Amino acid sequence: MKARIVVMPGDGIGPEVTSAAVRVLRQVADTFGHAFEFIDTLIGGAAIRAGQPALPADTVAAAKGADAILLGAVGHPDFDHLPPDRRPEAALLGLRRGVGAYANLRPARAWAGLESTGPLRPDVLRGTDLVVVRELLSGLYYGRPRGIAEDRSSAVNTMAYSREEIARIAHVAFTLARSRRRRLVSVDKANVLDVSRLWREVVTEIGREYPDVALTHEYVDAAAMKLVLAPSSFDVIVTENTFGDILSDEAGAVCGSLGLLPSASLGYGAGLFEPVHGSAPNLAGQGIANPIGAILSGAMLLSDGLGLKAEGQAIVASVEHTIASGARTADIAAPGQVALGTVAFTERVLEAGLTSSVRRG
Ligand code: NAD
Ligand code: IPM
Ligand code: MN
Repeated sequence: MKARIVVMPGDGIGPEVTSAAVRVLRQVADTFGHAFEFIDTLIGGAAIRAGQPALPADTVAAAKGADAILLGAVGHPDFDHLPPDRRPEAALLGLRRGVGAYANLRPARAWAGLESTGPLRPDVLRGTDLVVVRELLSGLYYGRPRGIAEDRSSAVNTMAYSREEIARIAHVAFTLARSRRRRLVSVDKANVLDVSRLWREVVTEIGREYPDVALTHEYVDAAAMKLVLAPSSFDVIVTENTFGDILSDEAGAVCGSLGLLPSASLGYGAGLFEPVHGSAPNLAGQGIANPIGAILSGAMLLSDGLGLKAEGQAIVASVEHTIASGARTADIAAPGQVALGTVAFTERVLEAGLTSSVRRG
């Protein structure tokens, strides 16, 4: 297959982890006989430093002509003073809207070998394998009115959802649940928020079309608690934008590190694939960031973006093998254990891929 993959390294550790993911994707192309063209573009602080807006028109055009987009991360303290619409983060929101990516899939799982890495007891974490389906184009992130009053005496953001916006993300979540363990938890705050009352109503209605999926509803505060008390009880979680942002970071920590989590943002245009973590300015430039979230985003790009399921699965298998072999970056190393840098860890993943391709051959 031929595919144009537009790469947006962005800020902080973004370039370090995307280059790891691109190396793994190149290996897949070689092994499976695909022709991937990688096109580098600017976004976020990297674009601003190059004298361009955070989301350059060229980047949007490349995204619209792409078969898939691989993004690192955006945001840096140097740009925190900018007005909201010129910040690096606004570029990401504009890109998501530009490609119509309303469904953000954020899988989190317990990895063999990392049972004791996170804050939970291994017996609590064991068996955890969930996906947060986060609505990505509405809610507080985009709702109007928004802003700080001129005299700075008040500020407002608006959480708004239309029936259609809720219905389309519900369909994604039910369909995904059908391909997994057929359990869907819809997370809201329907005891307080009107938006959540409509959310619950619409998700319940859509659920009648999926009688084989067991739907339950949970308030977001209780769901956050359950995610640490019994993470393995979840299969698919569907929730609005802000709740999904928060719960997915929590899921990362529960499984051992935010650096482990990939995501796929799907909708009307090219899929956008990015690790769940941010630009981690505290790690940037040191070559120590965990590339797994980005590498697994590459796996989702193949599976969910280009329909190359076996290829995506081969990357997951390489990561599994690498973790099981004891290789660790600093964030997932046990106290006193040697930690590999981003490049050395990525090379272990590449070696694992060669091993399994030799086995296949
Ligand atoms: P962050 O996700 O960058 O970092 C949170 C914590 O996780 C830090 O301790 C960091 O060191 C650690 N971490 C994150 N990724 C890691 C990795 N791959 N390996 C090892 N450790 C990792 O969140 P933050 O510090 O709140 O935000 C930093 C900047 O990133 C901000 O400008 C924020 O707006 C931006 N951000 C961007 C995205 C994105 O582009 N999708 C996501 C979240 C935050
Ligand atoms: C994420 C990030 C973004 C979000 C920010 C950087 C706009 O936190 O992808 O989770 O809140 O969606
Ligand atoms: Mn986030």
